[in-house]
Parts: sequence; C-alpha cells; structure tokens
Amino acid sequence: MDNALRRALQARRLSREPAREADVSKLPKLEDISLSELFAGDGLAGEWERARRRIGEVFPYENKWQAVDVGVRRALWYLIRRWRPRSVLEIGTLIGASTVHIAMALKACGQANAPSLVTVDLNDVNDPAGRPWMRHGVSASPREMLQRLDCADLVEFVTASSLDYLPGREDEFDFIFVDHAASADIVYRELPPALAALRPGGQLLMDAYYPDGKPLHPGGVAAPGPHLALRRLRSEGAGIAALPLGALPWPTAPGGSNRLTSLALLARE
Ligand SMILES: C[S@@+](CC[C@H](N)C(=O)[O-])C[C@H]1O[C@@H](n2cnc3c(N)ncnc32)[C@H](O)[C@@H]1O
Repeated sequence: MDNALRRALQARRLSREPAREADVSKLPKLEDISLSELFAGDGLAGEWERARRRIGEVFPYENKWQAVDVGVRRALWYLIRRWRPRSVLEIGTLIGASTVHIAMALKACGQANAPSLVTVDLNDVNDPAGRPWMRHGVSASPREMLQRLDCADLVEFVTASSLDYLPGREDEFDFIFVDHAASADIVYRELPPALAALRPGGQLLMDAYYPDGKPLHPGGVAAPGPHLALRRLRSEGAGIAALPLGALPWPTAPGGSNRLTSLALLARE
C-alpha cells in the first residue's frame, strides 16, 4: 500500500474517533529544548563504545527487521545517560533492541536507588513456546539478553495494549519512549493517558514521526499514525509540538552514511 493511500485510510478512521482532551502541562517547553545540544559535547563516546561492545555480545550490532536501528539505539543510550531518568516507560518491546540499550544506560547512570524500566507490548515478547525473537534472527529473548547483561532486575515486562495499560496509572515516568508506529486512531487515544503518566518536565520521545507525512527518503515508507494524531490534537487546541530529531550525529546502519531518523521529542508550546 502506498503512503498516500495508507494516510487517507488512517485519516478516515481517525475522523471517527470522538474528541479527546490532552493535558500537555507536564511536557517541557518548546523553547527549553535545544536539538543541536542533545548529543553535543557529552564526552560519552568512549563509554558508549564500551557499552556497544558489551551489548554486542548478546544483541547483534546490525539492523533488525522492525526493531530500532543502530543509530536510534545509540541515541536512546545517550539520552538516558544525559537525562538520568529514574523511571522509564517503553511502549513497543518486540525483540528488545531498544529495551537493552535503555536498560544498559540506566545501569550506567548508577543512581543510589535502582532506576526502572517498564516495557509494554501487545504480545508476550518472552514467550518460550512461540520464541518470537527467532523470526527476527535473534537468538535470545529480551529477558534472557537482559539477564546476560546483568540488568534484568531493572526491567518489568508487561503484555498489554498501551490503551489498557496507560489510563488511570498512578505512577509517573521521567522518560516515555513510544515505538510502535500504530495507526492514527490508536496514537490519538494513547497520547492523552501517556501525557498524564509523564512526571512534570519529563520527556516523551516517539519513533515513526514523519513530518507532513513524507518519508525520510524518496520511495520510503512513512507511517502516518503519529503525525496525523498530533495534527488532530493540535487542531483541537492542545498546544503540543513535535520536534523531529532529523539527522543524528551518527549513521543509522553499521558502515552506512544515512543519518536521518524518524525520532521526535514532544514539547508544549
Ligand atoms: C516497531 S516494534 C518495536 C521495536 C522495539 N522497540 C525494538 O527495538 O525491538 C512495535 C511493537 O509494538 C507493539 N505494539 C503495537 N501497538 C501497540 C500498543 N498499542 N501497545 C503496546 N504495544 C504495541 C507491537 O506488538 C510490536 O512488537
């Protein structure tokens, strides 16, 4: 299905959703986020190289189907090291490419009270019978990888839809990573409770955000869900903005030259 058709179908489904209110007050202000400083001058390169090699002993340093690419893995690791969140929520675990990088960065932050990561997926990503990770060319489940990396105790796996997990939560998260490229109606329903679950000043990072619904590369795929959902929230008065990270300081594939990412931070206007 081409991008225009996918977008039109999702826009139609989204238009059938009743309006929802989104409280954006906990998001950082737009003017307080400097994208050019996000990865600049952190002096983390040496530490990252050691973490990458260690993680590479259990998770292959190569891009895997549907999992975050190597550029996004590094970006997640840097952001966690820089912001030092105490509690992180990830929506979309799949094979745990992002999960192991977030967990290793949390471990490296070395806070006195152990930080925590909750990772939520529709499917049981550690199912010993179905072994879903094998379909992606990975030899161990996300939980097993975390055990080998000595950070399984930081991570809780939840098998649920974000639409069931998020509403009415009392705990708050310093950092939320949404990585599921779900359809626009799902993202539209998910964002208000996700914003409510954020600790004031926390960060919400989305993947699969394609500004104007355009692919990053000619002929590429542009998942329309996050862009359409945010556009509707804005049209209904929510002062919410997406800041696409654009080009990362490093390539998105080993040995490659492309740096473009569909990651975007959310902010309030
Ligand atoms: C792009 S993959 C995530 C990749 C993963 N972050 C990684 O790096 O390995 C998307 C995952 O989101 C899950 N998913 C889709 N919609 C969801 C929802 N509403 N709530 C929770 N999980 C969802 C899918 O089952 C799928 O495993």
